[in-house]
Amino acid sequence: MIFTSVDRGPAPPPRRRFLARRALVLATAGLLAAGGVGALSDTAHAATTLGSAAAAQGRYFGTAVAANHLGESAYVSTLDREFSSVTPENEMKWDAVEPSRNSFSFGSADQIVSHAQSKGMKVRGHTLVWHSQLPGWVAGLGTADLRTAMNNHITQVMQHYKGKIHSWDVVNEAFQDGNSGARRSSPFQDKLGSGFIEEAFRTARAADPAAKLCYNDYNTDGVNAKSTAVYNMVKDFKSRGVPIDCVGFQSHFNSASPVPADYRANLQRFADLGVDVQITELDIEGSGASQATSYGNVVKACLGVSRCTGITVWGVTDKYSWRSSGTPLLFDGNYAAKPAYDAVISAFGGTGGGGGGNATCSVSYSRTASWNGGFNGQVTVTAGSTAISGWTVAVTVTPPQKVSATWNGSPTWDSSGNVMTMRPNGNGNLAAGASTSFGFTVMTNGNTSAPAIGNCTAS
Ligand code: XIL
Repeated sequence: MIFTSVDRGPAPPPRRRFLARRALVLATAGLLAAGGVGALSDTAHAATTLGSAAAAQGRYFGTAVAANHLGESAYVSTLDREFSSVTPENEMKWDAVEPSRNSFSFGSADQIVSHAQSKGMKVRGHTLVWHSQLPGWVAGLGTADLRTAMNNHITQVMQHYKGKIHSWDVVNEAFQDGNSGARRSSPFQDKLGSGFIEEAFRTARAADPAAKLCYNDYNTDGVNAKSTAVYNMVKDFKSRGVPIDCVGFQSHFNSASPVPADYRANLQRFADLGVDVQITELDIEGSGASQATSYGNVVKACLGVSRCTGITVWGVTDKYSWRSSGTPLLFDGNYAAKPAYDAVISAFGGTGGGGGGNATCSVSYSRTASWNGGFNGQVTVTAGSTAISGWTVAVTVTPPQKVSATWNGSPTWDSSGNVMTMRPNGNGNLAAGASTSFGFTVMTNGNTSAPAIGNCTAS
């Protein structure tokens, strides 16, 4: 439909604000933090887990897993209770699965994959082509052999796990840090040139067409020269039909590299290229309330981007973190949930019931068409800082105006017939920051004034 004229109704309400977390949650966090030794009591979080809170917002919540801890019962019970996705921390890397040429060893990775499958968890594949944890024989190959070896590695590993991996980090960390925007030196880059990246993606698509193919990197979380270089590559790939489905943002944060203020905006600009975005290796050094706030902000950034499909933290417990001294994870060394855990649950909407006490929404109105005798109005409903599962908006027209048609909503009327209360047509779920619109036709009967749009109520 082509709208002929546009005029603006009442100004949209002020930008949404994040509401303070509820005192109850803070109190619980304090108790847990003070609780110290012993596994987190299951009853404290019986209703909500990281996985279920994320699932209520249509996301997965994963963790890196190391096969050598799968014999530790507290590790496994925390993993199984809380997470809906796993990434093998080291077990799918080149040195682990193809230590010598064309000789594959999948034992440890298989252990993680079967554990995940038996618990209904998704698996992220990490990683096929990376300069690090690369066995020496790869760097020793000449150009033609290296190309063959790279494609063979991708094909063999992906076919072994075909149908079991939801997303693969096909290429990891191919860009340099700093402002150059250049590709990082590696055997692949140095011998095959920048084209190795798209070659890897094309080979990967052929090997397992159902797996989502990701490019993954660090220091790309905010808008900066490095992330812009990756952005330009993804844009180029999309424009030329090189298969790429997702971009992974490692998100290893500490005080020198904090959660960037433009994190959400950066994720969004990638999503706008037509790829999913995933937070793939999250850990945030620190402790207490400041760590908790940062974790909550990461979750909010992801929820603010509809194509942010999930978050993976880089380990279950601080004691096995690759940056253990920075205590960067959600469970301490005794598997007690830290304040950061509660902040994550809270940012996902607390009870998983569609926003809990934080559910808010806002509205904006515009006249999308008008003609002699009538006009169309459109109201856009935008969820606040947590997801919502329902909303209502009252629209009041001025007699003798009459609403003669509505769409994308389910209206009820007051006795005067002038006040229409609109609710969602079917499911009213909106992710944090996401919008939906409904519309209506007003017969003016001589009065062309704009309808009054009431506040949005969310549930
Ligand atoms: C790390 C693992 O956590 C460590 O156990 C290992 O010694 C080194 O690699 N970026 C990545 C991950 O893509 O694979 C790295 O994992 C962390 C940085």
